[in-house]
Amino acid sequence: MRGSPSQHERRTDPDDQGDGGTPAADTNDGPRNPGDGGFPSGPDGIPVLGNTFQFTDDPHAFYDELAGYGDVVGYSVARQRMATVLHPDLVEQVLVTDSDRYGKWDLSDFGQQFASDGLLFTEGAQWREQRTQAQPAFQLDRIRSYGDAMAGYARELVEDLDDGEVFAANGRFSELTLRILVDSLFDLDVDGSEAGETITHGAQALNERAGPRGVSTFVPTWVPTPSNRRYNRAMAEFEDTVDDLIAERRAAEDGDHDDLLAMLMQAGDDGEGMSDKELRDTMLTFLFAGHETTSLALTYTTYLLAEHPDVADRLHREVDAAVDGDRPGTFDVFGLEYLDRVCTESMRLYPPAYVVFREAREDVELGGYELPADTKLTLPQFRIHRDERWYDDPGEFRPDRWTDEFEDSLPEYAYFPFGGGPRHCIGMRFAMLELKLVLATLVRDCRFEHVGDEPPEPRMAATYQPEEDVRLRVTKR
Ligand code: HEM
Repeated sequence: MRGSPSQHERRTDPDDQGDGGTPAADTNDGPRNPGDGGFPSGPDGIPVLGNTFQFTDDPHAFYDELAGYGDVVGYSVARQRMATVLHPDLVEQVLVTDSDRYGKWDLSDFGQQFASDGLLFTEGAQWREQRTQAQPAFQLDRIRSYGDAMAGYARELVEDLDDGEVFAANGRFSELTLRILVDSLFDLDVDGSEAGETITHGAQALNERAGPRGVSTFVPTWVPTPSNRRYNRAMAEFEDTVDDLIAERRAAEDGDHDDLLAMLMQAGDDGEGMSDKELRDTMLTFLFAGHETTSLALTYTTYLLAEHPDVADRLHREVDAAVDGDRPGTFDVFGLEYLDRVCTESMRLYPPAYVVFREAREDVELGGYELPADTKLTLPQFRIHRDERWYDDPGEFRPDRWTDEFEDSLPEYAYFPFGGGPRHCIGMRFAMLELKLVLATLVRDCRFEHVGDEPPEPRMAATYQPEEDVRLRVTKR
């Protein structure tokens, strides 16, 4: 149906799973190593440091090793007791069924402080209140109103790319998604104002710190290294700018804006709204959670299209048939089934948020094991999405695997790029619309060729960023 969320959006949206399909029992094998009431076994580490070195040295190899132990694996990193969960049914138990027995990781355990009063990290009643206030800003009819800006900025990028030009997809898409986000959040043009520039600068500093070449996550922000000083300065300027914007709008009782900040401020008009710090931390959270994730989805999808010309050809045909003129609109892209499958398959292979983190708030039972309170859990999409128990030829890019029949036979949490349960991604519909509008705008005019022989090597930074630039050559159609 035109304008309705796609099948996989329904799968990942607990608010809307009316007809999402039930997992078929025949493919839903149980966990491989049901427990006997103790802590799960896993690789031995060095006393005191546990498995810290194995983990930081080569996390992908470490996860390969973990998978050899079964579907619930215990170990320790940086003195923290850890468990990794590799079975969809147990992921569902943590994120959905028993969600109130688990919380987010406490970053201060690692000496980090980031937007502690923003939606991503708050807990309990404070989180519930904030989520209720922010939810209307992300409903489909609101999200659609950002479609013009998304398609408009994408069109500018297409016009900016010269025929034959080689460009770093990750860099260009990062600029694009930031531009779209700053416009949607603050009604600001990145180049057009000092505030826009400061916010951009803050988002970039955050990204740099969280990216593959950033400082280790284990170096607290208060250690006065040069990069920490730069980061702290950029964050302080960002915070001042957002505080000023909020103060100006409150003083002017300015109802002219149609952005997410205005929506959040209106949600508090009855006097029960967010404090200025909560507002500021929530805006920072949106910038952090919504910028690089969407940029990576675009980067890996265009890379995959470049490597699979047959898929790109089919997508061109679908988009050409649906779109009049040079700029696809919001309603054009909702009905495009092949585009939907391409995006779904791309985020299966390269989930931009590659692990969901949880911490047991009390002693819990999981898969027959006993996990003591404070155990930190990782639920790795990047592994579960490539498990051959659920996917044939899991390493292959095959958008056509996503038939309704296949989706119905798949365990619900064998695919969860946007998380699940009450804390699933609030920006999912925003991100999916952006992804589809930008891709449709790009493929309308461009073909891509990958420059280089090696596939991207994603690194486990704050998001699944490629170690090296993903370089593409553009040919104008
Ligand atoms: C392809 C793009 C995106 C991906 C893959 C993604 C992925 C995720 C995932 C996996 C979670 C769950 C984290 C957890 O349970 O611990 C999450 C939460 C969140 N995301 Fe996204 N996200 C994307 C885009 C966005 C956008 C565009 C925004 C905002 C504009 C956003 C805002 C948030 C927020 C605020 C949360 C926390 C929600 C809560 O805890 O209630 N995300 N995202």
